Amino acid sequence: MTLPTASYLQFTPDLKICRILNGMWQVSGGHGRINSTFAIQTMFKYVDAGFTTWDLADHYGPAEDLIGEFRRQVIATRGKAALANIQAFTKWVPRPGKMTKKIVEDNINISLRRMDVESLDLMQFHWWEYQDKNYLDALKYMAELQTEGKIKHLALTNFDTEHLQIITEAGIKIVSNQVQFSLVDRRPEVNMINFCQQHDIKLFTYGTVCGGLLSEKYLGKPEPRGFDLTTVSLKKYKNMVDAWGGWRLFQELLSTLKSIADKHGVSISNVAVRYILDKPVVGGVIVGARLGISEHLEDNAKVFSVNLDAEDLEKIDAVSQKSRDLYQLIGDCGDEYRR
Ligand SMILES: NC(=O)c1ccc[n+]([C@@H]2O[C@H](COP(=O)([O-])OP(=O)(O)OC[C@H]3O[C@@H](n4cnc5c(N)ncnc54)[C@H](OP(=O)(O)O)[C@@H]3O)[C@@H](O)[C@H]2O)c1
Repeated sequence: MTLPTASYLQFTPDLKICRILNGMWQVSGGHGRINSTFAIQTMFKYVDAGFTTWDLADHYGPAEDLIGEFRRQVIATRGKAALANIQAFTKWVPRPGKMTKKIVEDNINISLRRMDVESLDLMQFHWWEYQDKNYLDALKYMAELQTEGKIKHLALTNFDTEHLQIITEAGIKIVSNQVQFSLVDRRPEVNMINFCQQHDIKLFTYGTVCGGLLSEKYLGKPEPRGFDLTTVSLKKYKNMVDAWGGWRLFQELLSTLKSIADKHGVSISNVAVRYILDKPVVGGVIVGARLGISEHLEDNAKVFSVNLDAEDLEKIDAVSQKSRDLYQLIGDCGDEYRR
């Protein structure tokens, strides 16, 4: 399987990425037991199918180590040049507190070592408490490490528009922010997209298929509860669905998506991903990959061949309008992590 040219984005002058990124939170526990040998074999499958870009974090269990081992196996079996085709975006999620150059550098060095890279493609920084202004020091030191060659590009995750603006005004060049964005959670449309448009910042989105809830598997099904929600991802997004409007409205969304999906000969998930991918400033949608457990490569590839028309968008937006306003309820992007 190869993906069409439009599946890729020249994100930065040096990084051409696949617009569906493989999310590695799913290897961190709580999504089923991962066997690292199978996981790495499966990573070859993803890359060979054209899904060349990985999203991970320092705290996603063995994710950074899997990237390191995958890279070594790529070199051993295909030669070093083959690495040019693989991008790995990590995160640093420190505890708040005083930030010195040494603290920042020591942590960046850990990711460099685990991922077995000389320079991190993208460092997506997360910060838990805006009252603690040390995040600006952390970013300042990361910018120094960027100049020194340890980081290629600086990015954020779960920052709201107000703090993205503070950081931008402090002169720190941010290339992307990673946020929740889906047909259920449309908060980025309130302020974030507009700010990113003005400052040439891309969004990478997660939760776009709501842990798998946005699929045929849940169409016409009774409301899943407790043990039915078998991954932490499903639990997370079932809570979002509850806040958004509940299971009955979600069924209405699923049947609307199904009618659109049938019209185009694709799946509900394809429509859900395509809709977000077409939003301004969205660089890519991250879709979680339970490596070696389940796989949707062939289906997800179809996202790149579907075009939603005005009638499709109207139908989807009509359902969205019946939902509660999550911006009012939760706040801007990432505020759910800071309550
Ligand atoms: N920055 C942050 O705070 C943050 C937070 C959450 C996630 N993330 C990132 O985003 C990634 C995605 O995680 P997520 O929790 O948001 O999960 P998600 O992508 O919404 O859901 C992933 C699950 O959706 C199902 N799925 C995928 N493609 C499908 C298809 N074509 N048809 C039907 N089902 C399909 C699979 O379920 P099955 O495996 O059950 O088949 C898969 O495990 C993470 O790995 C991480 O990289 C970041």
